[in-house]
Amino acid sequence: MTSADMAGIMALEQELFPEDAWTPEMFAAEFAQPPSRRLYLVAEDGGTLIGYAGMMFTGGTQSDVVTLAVNPARWGEGTGTALLTALVDEADKRGYEEVLLEVREDNPRARRLYLRHGFTEIGIRRGYYQPSGVDAVVMRKALR
Ligand SMILES: CC(C)(COP(=O)(O)OP(=O)(O)OC[C@H]1O[C@@H](n2cnc3c(N)ncnc32)[C@H](O)[C@@H]1OP(=O)(O)O)[C@@H](O)C(=O)NCCC(=O)NCCS
Repeated sequence: MTSADMAGIMALEQELFPEDAWTPEMFAAEFAQPPSRRLYLVAEDGGTLIGYAGMMFTGGTQSDVVTLAVNPARWGEGTGTALLTALVDEADKRGYEEVLLEVREDNPRARRLYLRHGFTEIGIRRGYYQPSGVDAVVMRKALR
């Protein structure tokens, strides 16, 4: 992912996360972090952006999936799987012990994707998403 991808990403953020969309400034702050601490990827088809994902590496034992999104016109083709697999594989390669993430309680599609990829639900953060007040489900995958 580079700043050249931002227009396409902003359109998908607004469409997919109307209540919690990231701003270009939030992505810019992420790009300013050292490569050892962040990984942001895009999925493209013939030069067109169809999805993106990001991971935070804590420097300790834990890595976190911070975003994952696919253009709804392209859901069900394996792009979400490909992006998630790329992030988890990189965490594994870097020697991290676990991957964590938060997902909205009212997002069964994403929760299924994570369950299929070996994540288990380990807790609930009440009212995590604001201003909606929707709960987050915390999920974890052990890598070693
Ligand atoms: C969650 C999300 C990233 C999944 O992306 P995706 O590209 O549709 O994911 P996949 O195609 O890998 O898998 C989704 C489904 O398609 C099926 N599938 C995967 N490859 C397929 C293929 N080649 N043909 C048909 N179906 C396929 C999977 O079995 C899966 O089925 P399920 O939902 O019944 O379990 C996407 O729906 C999205 O962007 N949602 C909105 C944003 C969001 O919720 N992000 C997560 C925030 S935590």
